Amino acid sequence: MDRIRIRGGRALKGTIPISGAKNAALPLMIASLLTEETLVLDNVPRLADVSLLQHILGNHGVDVTLSGKRAGESENTGQTLQLSARTIVDTTAPYHLVSKMRASFWVIGPLVARMGEARVSMPGGCAIGIRPVNFHLDALRALGAEIDIEEGYVLARAPKGLKGARIEFSKVSVGATHTALMAASLASGETVIENAAREPEIADVAACLIKMGARIEGAGTSTIRVQGDKHLRAARHSVLPDRIETGTYAMAVAMTGGDVVLAGARAELLEVALDLLRQAGTEIAVTNEGIRVRRDGAGLTPVEVATAPFPGFPTDLQAQLMALMSRARGTSKITETIFENRFMHVQELARLGARIHLDGETAIIEGVEKLKGAPVMATDLRASVSLVIAALAAEGETMVHRVYHLDRGFERLEQKLAHCGAAIERVAG
Ligand code: UD1
Repeated sequence: MDRIRIRGGRALKGTIPISGAKNAALPLMIASLLTEETLVLDNVPRLADVSLLQHILGNHGVDVTLSGKRAGESENTGQTLQLSARTIVDTTAPYHLVSKMRASFWVIGPLVARMGEARVSMPGGCAIGIRPVNFHLDALRALGAEIDIEEGYVLARAPKGLKGARIEFSKVSVGATHTALMAASLASGETVIENAAREPEIADVAACLIKMGARIEGAGTSTIRVQGDKHLRAARHSVLPDRIETGTYAMAVAMTGGDVVLAGARAELLEVALDLLRQAGTEIAVTNEGIRVRRDGAGLTPVEVATAPFPGFPTDLQAQLMALMSRARGTSKITETIFENRFMHVQELARLGARIHLDGETAIIEGVEKLKGAPVMATDLRASVSLVIAALAAEGETMVHRVYHLDRGFERLEQKLAHCGAAIERVAG
């Protein structure tokens, strides 16, 4: 298994290109199941999760082709995928595939909406809490699907098609909002989704569904109205930039000091996180190219924050902020309100010298002057990148094991950082 070796202590300087958002690319790829015609997606990041989903969709009969590089394109240009679900050959998503990536459960909405049936294994994915699927099933039931659970599989049936309805979520869920939105796009009549997730990736998927012919209003707000259409069409859509990758590299620069332009990044996708970084003593400027992040030698000011659904501070940046605050001048508090077990990075950060203790859902971080390199283990996607951030500022060498977690969500991480002067390399095997 690959590892990543980092020698800390170098400031980051240069430009980091921001890739397309994983969390938009995955549901956009799944949306291809909604039409017999071809969906073309540009700016798709090269990630293990994208490859895995290509494989999963292939199993359902989706023809996925990758366009070759065009003149003038560099490795920083995202890939273009053409997805054609002309014939769905299998409505079962098996355990051995769904267990590897939670988001693949989301095929359930399009499959039952288009085919009248779906048999999808209960998901696996990052080990960050219980992560049930009850809201997805409630949404599909509201749209008229019959749901049974048998031997670890969810069976959803709607032989006469889905019918528009009012869906009100008791808690904000990104995935369940995707499921409701995609299923409602093929349902007959109007669907109103209340307490919908407002994440930018929802609005991006809705923008693509609109190009495919669905009539959707209010995506990006908590009430989404969908007028379904039995036949969605071909469309071409470019994946929006990854706000989590943006925030991660902004925190890396805040950690090491330096001056980096995050090219292609959009500040409005992560205002709260950028404000926190400003409070902590980082200069953030919006430029024509993207976002410029600078910090000189001054120490970091501690912050207090709780994760929240968009537009709040994202849970997917919680671990990275904790790594950063481990070197602040004073005590920070970070409360996790979305996932109940998302503190696995705490023990690993402690191996690097961080002083963090947990009080229920709140982590109390006492800033230390120095972190020291050590072997550490990646436990989930965002936790693993927090170890990289800490290691970039730690004295000596850190070896991050189990980097396949990183490959799921960060495109060419070590190249992007090395290009800005970090001493980071992948060690194969
Ligand atoms: C998505 C993101 C993930 C991010 C998370 C929260 C993708 C591919 N993944 O995950 O990176 O961390 O949003 O922003 O976009 N819940 C239920 N029942 C359900 C569904 C969810 O109880 O049926 C709970 C979850 O356990 C969690 C909370 O709701 O506590 C939010 O989860 P949700 O927004 O659904 O996360 P995902 O869509 O899985």
